[in-house]
Amino acid sequence: MSRSAHPAGPRYADVLPEGHYSAPPADLNALDPKVWARTVGRDEHGVLTVGGIDVKQLAEEFGTPAYILDEADFRARARAWRTAFGSDADVFYAGKAFLSRAVVRWLHEEGLNLDVCSGGELATALSAGMPADRIAFHGNNKSPAEIERAVRAGVGRIVLDSFQEIVRVAHIAQSLGKRQRVQIRITVGVEAHTHEFIATAHEDQKFGIPLAGGQAAEAVRRALQLDGLEVIGIHSHIGSQIFDMSGFEVAAHRVVGLLREIRDEHGIELPEIDLGGGLGIAYTSDDDPREPHEIAKALTEIVTRECEAARLSTPRISVEPGRAIVGPTAFTLYEVGTVKPLEGLRTYVSVDGGMSDNIRTALYDAEYSVALASRSSDAEPMLCRVVGKHCESGDIVVRDAFLPGDLAPGDLIAVPATGAYCRSMASNYNHVLRPPVVAVDGGGARVIVRRETEEDLLRLDVG
Ligand code: LLP
Repeated sequence: MSRSAHPAGPRYADVLPEGHYSAPPADLNALDPKVWARTVGRDEHGVLTVGGIDVKQLAEEFGTPAYILDEADFRARARAWRTAFGSDADVFYAGKAFLSRAVVRWLHEEGLNLDVCSGGELATALSAGMPADRIAFHGNNKSPAEIERAVRAGVGRIVLDSFQEIVRVAHIAQSLGKRQRVQIRITVGVEAHTHEFIATAHEDQKFGIPLAGGQAAEAVRRALQLDGLEVIGIHSHIGSQIFDMSGFEVAAHRVVGLLREIRDEHGIELPEIDLGGGLGIAYTSDDDPREPHEIAKALTEIVTRECEAARLSTPRISVEPGRAIVGPTAFTLYEVGTVKPLEGLRTYVSVDGGMSDNIRTALYDAEYSVALASRSSDAEPMLCRVVGKHCESGDIVVRDAFLPGDLAPGDLIAVPATGAYCRSMASNYNHVLRPPVVAVDGGGARVIVRRETEEDLLRLDVG
């Protein structure tokens, strides 16, 4: 094995984390289509391109770091979900993954609905013209003002998350002379195989009303008595970044069980069930996500089968994918500032962003991959850790990655699959300015969320 081309760079074989990487990828310039947006490729000079535009041009025009979003890919994925579920089901894009007015317009045009979970997301949706009746309003502690705004706007559904909220929404709707369509979010007791912080259907956590002990049935009983509410269905969201469909199967079984109990007790069949979002995407080549049509088929079959067994007519299904639509459509473009080889360990590559534009590595131990973007290189692979510019040693963007050994300050590198929960969870830590989101389509690029400026920061600082 030859040494890394970087003078003091460690040999990867000496420092491989046990069992993590067996070897660097055969070709560091290759782009795995599983993790990159669909129109990403390399031009004849080896420069990364998206929608036909090279990243050097994007960096020059929009600066770095920047989230570069492939609009055609976003629309194609949204459409694939819509088509997969057909006209008997509804797809609500989960805005928490990434929301902007352009995204709202794309969703509207592609026939998707929208799940919002705060007054800010609701305001964004309404200001971009999403019809209110295609909006679902979520959250475990919606404020009275947020509820009132949603009811006044005429949102298609509010997903109720607690006993207090049942009364609160009923009261507000009634005082406005309205009857609000609602779903009741339950926890079905499923242990989703994902990070603890993003699993949401086991009972010991803050979301929903437990099915256990008859609490969910009691919630339905109370909601059905209130004039301000029209109970249209039951909601279950088991977690996020899930690959294994068995959790959904158990959830559907238990939700349908509750529908049967409701039918037996109240003589009504609730017309809708929502199975939430949570379908995983590929962050690295090791991940194997399912296609929307496979997911739609599996979920529809499970619900139909369970309803037949319970002698219920099949309710209208809805789902709420966020990550699975937007996640793979964007990458973050960074400029390398320093390259620091640590003898016998690894090489630290510092970029001009960090945990303020991608907190997921620090928060969830998320894995990402990375590629040299401004050129290709035949240099030997070098084991790297891509880190940010923040004053914190946990400021890691990509924990373990191979980059070419001739990597140098000024090179552009790109981290794929950052479309979901990166810009939406971005912060101003260390007063670092949040990057723009640049949408690329058909050879054109435009800013859809502009870069934050120092004026933006100082405008909030009124002391
Ligand atoms: N529906 C509900 C009720 C949710 O709470 C969520 C996500 C979704 C749908 C969309 O889930 P998705 O399809 O995007 O997985 N910040 C974390 C993820 C938190 C997910 C919160 N709820 C992360 O970066 O992994």
